[in-house]
Amino acid sequence: MKFQGSDQYVATQDLMLAVNAAVTLQRPLLVKGEPGTGKTMLAEEVARALGLPLLQWHIKSTTKAQQGLYEYDAVSRLRDSQLAGADSERVRDIRNYIVRGVLWQAFTSDEPTALLIDEIDKADIEFPNDLLRELDRMEFYVYETRELVKARHRPIVFITSNNEKDLPDAFLRRCFFHYIKFPDADTMRSIVDVHFPGLKKELLGAALKTFYDVRNLPGLKKKPSTSELLDWLKLLVAEDIPLEALQSQDDKVAVPPLVGALLKNEQDVTLFEKLVFMQRHNR
Ligand SMILES: Nc1ncnc2c1ncn2[C@@H]1O[C@H](COP(=O)(O)OP(=O)(O)O)[C@@H](O)[C@H]1O
Ligand SMILES: [Mg+2]
Repeated sequence: MKFQGSDQYVATQDLMLAVNAAVTLQRPLLVKGEPGTGKTMLAEEVARALGLPLLQWHIKSTTKAQQGLYEYDAVSRLRDSQLAGADSERVRDIRNYIVRGVLWQAFTSDEPTALLIDEIDKADIEFPNDLLRELDRMEFYVYETRELVKARHRPIVFITSNNEKDLPDAFLRRCFFHYIKFPDADTMRSIVDVHFPGLKKELLGAALKTFYDVRNLPGLKKKPSTSELLDWLKLLVAEDIPLEALQSQDDKVAVPPLVGALLKNEQDVTLFEKLVFMQRHNR
C-alpha cells in the first residue's frame, strides 16, 4: 500500500514520503499549509488510490470532540417516551438513542478506512487534546451503555490545519507532520495540466507570471491560492481572453482581466493597480 500521487492529484516527492511514513508508523498525518494547497484533496486522493472508503469530519468552531465518538440523543428519547410511553421497548433501550460519530464508524467498519479530520484548527483549543487518547489507543468507552468501542482496523487518519491556531504539543507528538509548501511554478504547471490538459502554453505562461507577480506583491492581505488560479484560468478559457490581454505590451500595461478571481478585497486590488501603474511609468 504505497501512495504515488494520482492522475488527478499532483503529489511532490516529499508529500508522498510523508503519506507513506504516516501509514507505516500508523500515526495520524497532520497536513498544514495555506488554504487551497490541496490538503483536503490529499485525503480524498490517498483514500481513492488505496481503495479505502473515506470518512470525513469537517470541523467548525462549535464542533466538540465527543461528537466524533457518539452523542446521546436525549430529546428524541423524551419525545418517544411522551408519544409511546416510557415503558415502550424502544425508549427503555438507551442504545436506540446513541448516535454514532465518524470515529465510531471508522472503528467498527468491516473494512479498513481512511478518516479525515478537516481543519482541526477551527475548533477550540481543547479539541485536539480531547481526541488524543482515542486516536492513540483507537478505542473509547461509551458510558451510557457501558461498552468499549475498539477499532477493528486502524484507520489511516488525515488531519488538516490552516494554521489559524497552534496545536498542543502532546497532540503534535503523536502525529507525523507535513507542511505543503506553496507550489513552485513547475509544480503549478503540472497541477494546472491535470485540470486543463489542453491549455495553450503561452497563455499558461503569461497567466502564471501574473499570478506569481500578484502573490509576490509586498503587503498583500490575502495571497491567491492554487484553487483561485484554477478558477481564474477557467474564466480566461471560458471568456476566450486573448493572450495579449495578459502580456504587457510596450506602450501599455493593463490590469489583467477578471482579476477578481485572484484578489478578494479592494485594498489588494488597489495595491495591484498601483504596481501596474508604476511598471507603466518605468518604461
Ligand atoms: N496538488 C494538487 N493537484 C491537483 N489539484 C490541486 C492540488 N492542490 C490543489 N489543487 C486544487 O485546488 C483545490 C483546492 O484544494 P483543497 O484540497 O480544497 O485545499 P485545502 O484543503 O488545502 O484548502 C482542489 O479542489 C484542486 O482543484
Ligand atoms: Mg480544505
